[in-house]
Amino acid sequence: MLFDFLRRKKTEHEIDMSRLPQHIGVIMDGNGRWAKKRGLPRSAGHKAGAESLKKIVTEANNMGIKYITVYAFSTENWKRPQAEVDYLMSLLMDYLVNAEKTLAGENVRIRAIGSRAELSEEMRRQIKKTEELTSNRTGIVMNIALNYGGREEIVHAARELGKQIKAGMLEPENITERDIEENLYTANQPDVDLLIRTSGEQRLSNFMLWQVSYAEMVFVNKLWPDFKPQDLRECILAFQGRGRRFGGI
Ligand code: IPE
Ligand code: IPE
Ligand code: MG
Repeated sequence: MLFDFLRRKKTEHEIDMSRLPQHIGVIMDGNGRWAKKRGLPRSAGHKAGAESLKKIVTEANNMGIKYITVYAFSTENWKRPQAEVDYLMSLLMDYLVNAEKTLAGENVRIRAIGSRAELSEEMRRQIKKTEELTSNRTGIVMNIALNYGGREEIVHAARELGKQIKAGMLEPENITERDIEENLYTANQPDVDLLIRTSGEQRLSNFMLWQVSYAEMVFVNKLWPDFKPQDLRECILAFQGRGRRFGGI
């Protein structure tokens, strides 16, 4: 027991800064259960989750992580009660509006990935604004997956390639993985190498199907509002303890 404790204490300081994941994906799950446990409305869980998010992004940026993609609203989340959808959208709106202030000095570059057509005009305008305001930053790139679905993203890429074929710019037999990658919302970004999901669920729920092909997955039992910078560090340690082979030996 004591040795276990000492070993744990020691590993806390042993993140190998030369082998950090380049791109972390986070399925921020468990806000509703967090609120329920406290007898609070689900909205309180989402609010607490948004606070968690700020701290985690700041920590990742400070550590020198280059890309983080956070799952904020899936293409399936429209199925929730309208009041919850509205609340999530208003939280996301606030996040984007305040990002300039709260993440100022943090050097975070914010982007939204997902299908924008279904979002309100106001939200689309704000996304554009926040993306432009933060585009020349040099720190971590934060992709907010908003009305995002991995399948939708691949359909979107297929349509783009279809247009190129129709325009005579591409032959179907010449389509490569690279062509698909270049038409994903994450074009020009590295694949996700560490995927974290909180709340104990062990599924992808349509998150970054293409980009997680060889990601190391770390499932954490804590609910998202309870996930702390120290938990992120532990996930990175777990990642560094895995033997990655990419199909080789
Ligand atoms: C994750 O928390 C946040 C979103 C999906 C937007 P949930 O709202 O899914 O929380 P649980 O899974 O019901 O506890
Ligand atoms: C995934 O969580 C989506 C986000 C975290 C935004 P869900 O709570 O929607 O996923 P399921 O329904 O448990 O698969
Ligand atoms: Mg959930």
